[in-house]
Amino acid sequence: PVLSQDELKKLAADKAVESVKSGMILGLGTGSTAAFVVDKLGQLLSTGQLSNIIGIPTSKRTQEQAASLNIPLSTLDSHPHIDLAIDGADEVDPNLDLVKGRGGALLREKMVEAASSSFIVVADDSKLVSGLGGSGLAMPVEVVQFCWKYNLVRLQGLFKELGCEANLRLDGSEKPYVTDNGNYIVDLYFQNPIKDGFGAGKEISALEGVVEHGLFLGMATSVIIAGKTGVEVMTK
Ligand code: A5P
Repeated sequence: PVLSQDELKKLAADKAVESVKSGMILGLGTGSTAAFVVDKLGQLLSTGQLSNIIGIPTSKRTQEQAASLNIPLSTLDSHPHIDLAIDGADEVDPNLDLVKGRGGALLREKMVEAASSSFIVVADDSKLVSGLGGSGLAMPVEVVQFCWKYNLVRLQGLFKELGCEANLRLDGSEKPYVTDNGNYIVDLYFQNPIKDGFGAGKEISALEGVVEHGLFLGMATSVIIAGKTGVEVMTK
């Protein structure tokens, strides 16, 4: 039988959770794939197969889900060294570089995942791209609300030669989407993939009023990809 996308996400999630050991401080990601990870952790804790886990959530959404499953939670302030983070991604390239943040949680995700000794990405094979920005979907940038339009224009200007279009993310109605940190998101759309991710990230970060961008470069330790032919673990 052909597996649904949700079944693939769950396969990847379950595989990643095999790396979790009792006593670990865990970064808990955000999104539909990461939610399967949190579910599984809750299940293993409730049956006693895991114990003494402390979760560091990357969004209010994940915090609520984990709390509802009785997963003990803490913060990066109290636990600045995380053993393992598991999270989804929006794009994965052959170098294990990522685009993240379509779910809006990029800032907390990046802080938590940068503080983790290892970072496992879980995804179905629809997330694989040959070059970042090449999926035709959004590359998010979190910006302060103050003069967001000024930064939107500057962001679009940085990537003119990639055929970049920039839009303020809306929350479904006419109102701007507001992140957990009280900021806005500018979504960048590229006609061509980004060639120099590190250069692009540096240029974006150099703009005053930009809080964080969705390029997660050199951060993933491994990527677990579930597809029709099974589960594949990508490592460098
Ligand atoms: C959240 O901000 C994102 O970085 C998510 O990790 C990403 O959107 C993946 O979500 P799905 O697992 O729902 O595709």
